[in-house]
Order: sequence, then structure tokens, then C-alpha cells
Amino acid sequence: MAQVILQQVSKTYPGGVIAVHPLDLHIAHGEFVVLVGPSGCGKSTTLRMIAGLEEITGGTVAIGDRVVNEVEPRDRNIAMVFQNYALYPHMDVRENLEFGLRMRKMPREEITRRVDDAARILGIELLLKRKPRALSGGQRQRVALGRAIVRDPDVFLFDEPLSNLDAKMRVQMRAEIARLHHRLGATMIYVTHDQTEAMTLGQRIVVMKDGVVQQVAAPLELYERPANRFVAGFIGSPAMNFLSGHLERAEGLRFITDSGDSVAMPADFAPAARLLDRPTVMGIRPEHIDLAAAGAASGLAAPVQVVESLGSETMVHLGLKSGTFVVRFPGQAAAKIDKPLAVNLRADGIRLFDADEQGLALPTA
Ligand SMILES: Nc1ncnc2c1ncn2[C@@H]1O[C@H](COP(=O)(O)OP(=O)(O)O)[C@@H](O)[C@H]1O
Ligand SMILES: [Mg+2]
Repeated sequence: MAQVILQQVSKTYPGGVIAVHPLDLHIAHGEFVVLVGPSGCGKSTTLRMIAGLEEITGGTVAIGDRVVNEVEPRDRNIAMVFQNYALYPHMDVRENLEFGLRMRKMPREEITRRVDDAARILGIELLLKRKPRALSGGQRQRVALGRAIVRDPDVFLFDEPLSNLDAKMRVQMRAEIARLHHRLGATMIYVTHDQTEAMTLGQRIVVMKDGVVQQVAAPLELYERPANRFVAGFIGSPAMNFLSGHLERAEGLRFITDSGDSVAMPADFAPAARLLDRPTVMGIRPEHIDLAAAGAASGLAAPVQVVESLGSETMVHLGLKSGTFVVRFPGQAAAKIDKPLAVNLRADGIRLFDADEQGLALPTA
């Protein structure tokens, strides 16, 4: 069973940079786990410690039933796919796929069988005689995936494998990697800075910031119940709106921002009394805001600054005293620049956070 267990794994680079603070993570056999976070948060370092490409400063890494801290990368039965495909330019695709297996002195027929299987899985049978320079970026990345598949590893490790591809190819390869996981049932650990990739691929997502794990959860759990403000702002696009201020009761419940905006809270939003009259950050996603009916009372009205019409949806940027407040409407919305727009917050979309740096989520009940 190729589970992967990290216990108190940490990394300090020479010179004292703490790239990863002690991290615990239990990845089940066959699970697809994504490490996500902004550039420099320690994702690659964590992956490279699992691969054995980076020495571990503290803690243990186990693959299957064995602690591998002292095991060479080549003996860990892992396969890694990077952003840079690093194919051998003078070899054709078949030779590129065969190379690692030949180095391991695998029998000829077994090599052919594995390469043919991988080529079929990836739909690159017709490319086997081509040199890498005659391939598109997406085809090259497929060959790089193929090189991992033929190894039949216990664990696949991906480090931003799609970053070099154009947007359309990225979406296509993302779906192929998801299919591959479904088909092979192998343990996969995938690193990306792209929250959409994380949300669409991961069965579980590990959100990291500054070398510290912020939350480990299934995608929708992260979206619905972010543990803190960082996760709330990182997951979801366009990002959650945040307002700093406090809740107070005056002609109904209102959120008064530090800059002087006054937002009427929806009638069905009923926070506990201890959440009133204290510094709080309120978060609400653009999709949890509705256009107010004409003439009716609204939660908030502010001038329109930007209208982004995407056809299937419209993003409207409202200019509050506190800053930009993004609202997302399905379909097409008739919003005019500089004209005020009245909207209502949806009660079940409202999240409250501590106003301090950590910004922990506050249970609203
Ligand atoms: N070889 C290295 N020597 C010193 N510092 C490094 C080295 N590699 C990475 N770092 C630092 O460790 C931190 C985490 O890096 P990395 O794991 O590459 O982040 P990510 O993959 O999330 O972008 C960063 O601050 C980075 O500058
Ligand atoms: Mg990286």
C-alpha cells in the first residue's frame, strides 16, 4: 500500500531560510492530494523531500510501510513530473519513454508492453517516432507523463506540470491527469500555485503559506468553511470580498466598516450576541450577492466602477469607501459605470473572521 506519511517534516535551507515548518500529513493509498499556495510557500520543497531530492531537516517521511529518509530517490518507487519536461532531444518519443526502463535493465518485451500501454492511455501512439522538437507543448507534457506512467510507481509527484502550457491546453491536460488518476488508482501528490487546478484535481487540498499548513480539506469544504482569512481569500475566483469593521444593532443589524460604509445585513442572518460590537472582518464571495429589486430596501448601494461582461456571467466592481467590492451576476447584468447599484448579501454566504493577523474563522451561530 503506497500511503505517504509525513511526520513533523521540516526544512531549513543553509543560511537559515525556514522553507517548511514541521508538517504532518497522512496521504492514503490511491489518494489525489494537492499542495497549493503562493509562490515561495514551501510546496516544491515539501514535494522534493518526499522524492528524496532535498535533505530533510527534521521529521520522517514514510512511503508505504517504510521510512525513506535515508533511501535514495531512485529506490523510493516514485515518479516525478516537472514543469520542464526535460525530454532527450536526440531520442524519439518511444526512446524517451523506454530510457528509464532500459537503465533499470528491464526485459525487452516488458519495456515494449509498458511503453505501448502508456502510449495508448495518453493517446500518443502516432507520435512514437517523432523527436521532441516536432511536438507541441501539450504533446511533450504527455510524453513526460508517459515517462512517469511506464515506471509504474507507487506514488506520482507533480510539480506545477502544466505551468508552461497555454490556458486551453492547461484545462485539457488537467482533465487528462484527473482521468489518469481515475484509471491508475495510484497515489498522486500535485503541487500548484493555481487554486482552480487545486480545486478541480484534488480529493484533498493542503493550503500552505510561509511554510505553514493553513488547512487540509476537501475542495468544497475549503470553499464553504475556510479556516481563516488567508484560505478564504486564496480559494475561489474572483476572490472573496473582505470588509473590516464591526456588527452593530441599530435599525436592524448592520456591518459598519472602519472607513464608514454601512451595510444592512439580511434579516435571516442571526449571529451570536458575542459577535456584535467587536473588531471583525466580514467576508462574502462575489457569487453570494444578489441584485436588489428596484425600489426595495437593499443591503448596500455603491457606484459601479468596472463592468466585466463574460457572457455567461458579469462581474461588477462597486466602489465602497473601504475599497473595491466585487459582485458576480449570472448572465448579463445591466450595470452602468458611475451609476449606483443596490445589492443584497445572502445570509448563508456571510463569513466572519477575527480582525487580527491570523484571521481565524468565527462560528456565526
Ligand atoms: N536551494 C535553496 N536554498 C535556499 N532557499 C531556498 C532554496 N530553495 C527554495 N528556497 C526558499 O525556500 C522557500 C520555499 O521555496 P519553494 O519550496 O520552492 O516554494 P514554492 O514551491 O511554494 O514556490 C522560499 O523562500 C525559497 O526562496
Ligand atoms: Mg515551486
